[in-house]
Amino acid sequence: MDAQIVVLPGDGIGPEVTAEALRVLEAVARKGGHAFRFSEQLMGGCSIDRHGTALTPGALAACKASRAVLLGAVGGPKWDDPAAKVRPEQGLLALRKGLGVFANLRPVKVHPALLDSSPLKPDRLQGVDILVIRELTGGLYFGQPKGRDVRDGHERAVDTLEYQDYEVRRVVELAFRLARGRRRKVTSVDKANVLESSRLWRQVATAIGKADPEVALDHMLVDTASMRLVMAPASFDVVVTENMFGDILTDEASVLAGSMGMLPSASLGDGGPGLYEPIHGSAPDIAGQGIANPVGTILSAAMMLRHSLGLPAEADAVEAAVHRAIADGCRTRDLGGALQTSRMTDEILRRL
Ligand code: IPM
Ligand code: MG
Repeated sequence: MDAQIVVLPGDGIGPEVTAEALRVLEAVARKGGHAFRFSEQLMGGCSIDRHGTALTPGALAACKASRAVLLGAVGGPKWDDPAAKVRPEQGLLALRKGLGVFANLRPVKVHPALLDSSPLKPDRLQGVDILVIRELTGGLYFGQPKGRDVRDGHERAVDTLEYQDYEVRRVVELAFRLARGRRRKVTSVDKANVLESSRLWRQVATAIGKADPEVALDHMLVDTASMRLVMAPASFDVVVTENMFGDILTDEASVLAGSMGMLPSASLGDGGPGLYEPIHGSAPDIAGQGIANPVGTILSAAMMLRHSLGLPAEADAVEAAVHRAIADGCRTRDLGGALQTSRMTDEILRRL
């Protein structure tokens, strides 16, 4: 198979971890006789420095023309001025919207060898295997109006939580499809006791649930869900929710896995290129030291193999190699070990 892959290393540790994921993809290509053609583009703070904008039209066009996009991380203190007109995060939001990747898959699994790395009690973590699907191109992040004005002599700020039924339908339908290959349970998370947008969300989810009785659907309020995620995380299978609820809940859920550095994500739309990125950020405090955990990005590359490149066996093999490396005690610093970023990848490659 032959595929064009755009790499957006981004800022902070982004370039370090994407370089490691590329080593893994290259190993997969060598073994299977595939031709992955990588091309690099700027996105985030590095693009602001060079072009004055976080994502140029040219970089977006390259992403749109690719089969898949691998992203490291964006942002850092250099671009953090809240009054700044251009911000690295704008690039990420424009990319998600531009690619139309409305579903952000964030799997959270707890490796048995890392039960003690989480601040939660190990018995709570037994058997945790959650797939959070975060709606990614609508909701509070994108609703209009949005902005600042002055009303009655007071400065005012507005964000809008807005959904149309089809936006809810396509992401909840995907949740049901994916639940069928898992434990057949979907938890739709909303705030339907307060928000009108959540009442529409719940109405659409309920209709989809009625049409698909083989998958169990329950509804949970987002505040309850945030509590249940730490009280009984093993009770969840697939979780589907609004953009910002999903942003918050997945940071919370990442604690279950012992380190944010472990977790991958895939953002998918309707058949266009998928976007793959670790859920951790640019970690400016450790950038350039070669100590970042590459696992989140390597597992994101595995998701790319599965969801965009049609290579599910290769995806399984990468995940198994990561699993064995962790089982054998290979640890970067975030997990209490001393392996450098590239040594951790060496260990994974040896087991691939
Ligand atoms: C994430 C991040 C982003 C988001 C930021 C960097 C804009 O927190 O991917 O979860 O809020 O979506
Ligand atoms: Mg986030």
